[in-house]
Amino acid sequence: MTDPAALRLREALGNFVTGVTVVTTRHGDELHGLTANSFTSVSLDPPLVLFSLSRTADCFDAFERSDYFAINVLQSDQEALSNRFATKDIDKWSGVRWRPGHLDCPLLDGAIATFECRVTTRHEGGDHIIYVGEVLRFDHGPDGEPLAFFRGRYTAVSA
Ligand SMILES: Cc1cc2nc3c(=O)[nH]c(=O)nc-3n(C[C@H](O)[C@H](O)[C@H](O)COP(=O)(O)O)c2cc1C
Repeated sequence: MTDPAALRLREALGNFVTGVTVVTTRHGDELHGLTANSFTSVSLDPPLVLFSLSRTADCFDAFERSDYFAINVLQSDQEALSNRFATKDIDKWSGVRWRPGHLDCPLLDGAIATFECRVTTRHEGGDHIIYVGEVLRFDHGPDGEPLAFFRGRYTAVSA
């Protein structure tokens, strides 16, 4: 991205502190995942969450073809995992510890919380597609510090 107006907008948006997630999906033996900080809760009744997926993501077609996704909320010591799942053209899964969830999507060891979702709707969102999913299963540990993202850098948040 080189458009100066878009760069300034991205810089301004970076002032909104977020958590960091890895969103995963699966087709048979094919595992897919990307780092996403666009995750947010939408509704409790019904239980809905969303994330936005860039149209330029290599995993775009995999998510288009899948009815399910899993959100893995990263812990403060998982910065390397976040960078790995934000890197194109590498084997993202090499050496990563994960287990299949109830909907078959990969759940990452060490995540502070996981949400297993069925895609309910896909919305046009400019250069992204907004995925809304119904949470069918979820889990979270009793403690642990989240990984946070602010002004383009990882940061810590303590309770
Ligand atoms: C902290 C952080 C947050 C990100 N959030 C998103 C996001 O919400 N949606 C998205 O499409 N890409 C996001 N990205 C970029 C993708 O993780 C990255 O482009 C990834 O390589 C795309 O998947 P691909 O390898 O299949 O192309 C984020 C990257 C970082 C480092």
